[in-house]
Amino acid sequence: MRTQVGIVGGGPAGLLLSHLLHLQGIESVVLERRSREDLETTVRAGVLEYGTAGLLSEVGVGERMEQEGSVHHGIELRFDGRGHRIDFADLTDGLSITIYGQQEVVKDLIRARLEADGRILFEAGAESVEAPDTDSPKIRFWQDGEQEEISCDYVAGCDGSFGVCRSGIPEDARTEYTRTYPFGWFGILVEGPPSTQELIYTLHDRGFALVSTRSPEVQRLYFQCDPQDDVEEWPDERIWDELSTRLATHDGWELAGGRIFQKDIVQMRSFVCEPMQHGRLFLAGDAAHIVPPTGAKGMNLAVADIRVLAHALTEFYRSGDWRLLDAYSETCLRRVWRAQRFSWWMTSMLHRFDRSDAFQLKVQQAELDYITTSRAAATTIAENYVGAALGTSHPL
Ligand code: PHB
Repeated sequence: MRTQVGIVGGGPAGLLLSHLLHLQGIESVVLERRSREDLETTVRAGVLEYGTAGLLSEVGVGERMEQEGSVHHGIELRFDGRGHRIDFADLTDGLSITIYGQQEVVKDLIRARLEADGRILFEAGAESVEAPDTDSPKIRFWQDGEQEEISCDYVAGCDGSFGVCRSGIPEDARTEYTRTYPFGWFGILVEGPPSTQELIYTLHDRGFALVSTRSPEVQRLYFQCDPQDDVEEWPDERIWDELSTRLATHDGWELAGGRIFQKDIVQMRSFVCEPMQHGRLFLAGDAAHIVPPTGAKGMNLAVADIRVLAHALTEFYRSGDWRLLDAYSETCLRRVWRAQRFSWWMTSMLHRFDRSDAFQLKVQQAELDYITTSRAAATTIAENYVGAALGTSHPL
């Protein structure tokens, strides 16, 4: 098998790349380890930056997002029993975010690719990237018990943090930067009405909590937990008690209940691999970097990498000029580190690292007090959260 760009991974990054390349007349094949059903039903993140939502519309895959997604113009920061609104629209000249599940983005992209006769091989597990530093790299993979191979001009490694592509960059040619956090997020999906119009991020003595949503009928909530916790230790009643305690306000705000139909624990990690390329192999999204979910940046960073990569590949196939490809990693890493800093900072400000450290809690509350009363400080959250301060809107 041969193609121009071999794409490992059928998440938002790999599928979007395939779609953008197709719009420029460049051929690709997407290899995805999981089944289509699995991909389309795994619940992940749900916040699209202004520029991410704009891109999906611009390239013709935003129709359902525009109908079913929900546009938010702010978030609430809650601490010391009081809520404070960060008004994105006011602080960023009218920008907003869109709440639309990652698996919905994946569904829309799969449909667009298949309607255009794009090639996506489901249940095709990549094993390795061969010869990335030559003119004809190959991807080895397994499908239906057979070992197969694709030869291509370029390989895009969009296979997530546990994928095989990163190891296509020799160990002595890459540096990995990692931070782990002493907590995880316990996430639930609830069938029930929303408790709030906008997302609520809370700092409480007992730890962080977040009220998010998926649709008018499905709510997504999280609370900081021990990373070793087991979902079995958390019966529904214990979860509602914990969330209600952390989210309580002095004016008696009430959390809407509902039927919990999924529980999961998300690990928290910051990670960057430098560089993000080697020869003709380019990493994008979680394959190259992981952020803790507090800043809601994960999928947005993946989409931003793909903008840069698609633009650089288009330029190469149009004119033979490889300079943008050469600069890929450097172009991406500047933005990646800015998003890392924001995600680390939001995480640090909103979580309890050590329940016995009363001083730290006071300093965190003072920081939140500052953020929510100074227009300059509030703007730093707003412009990062909507993506305006991150350079995520590279030209296509
Ligand atoms: C989510 O809805 O899953 C979500 C929202 C905001 C975050 C992280 C996750 O910061």
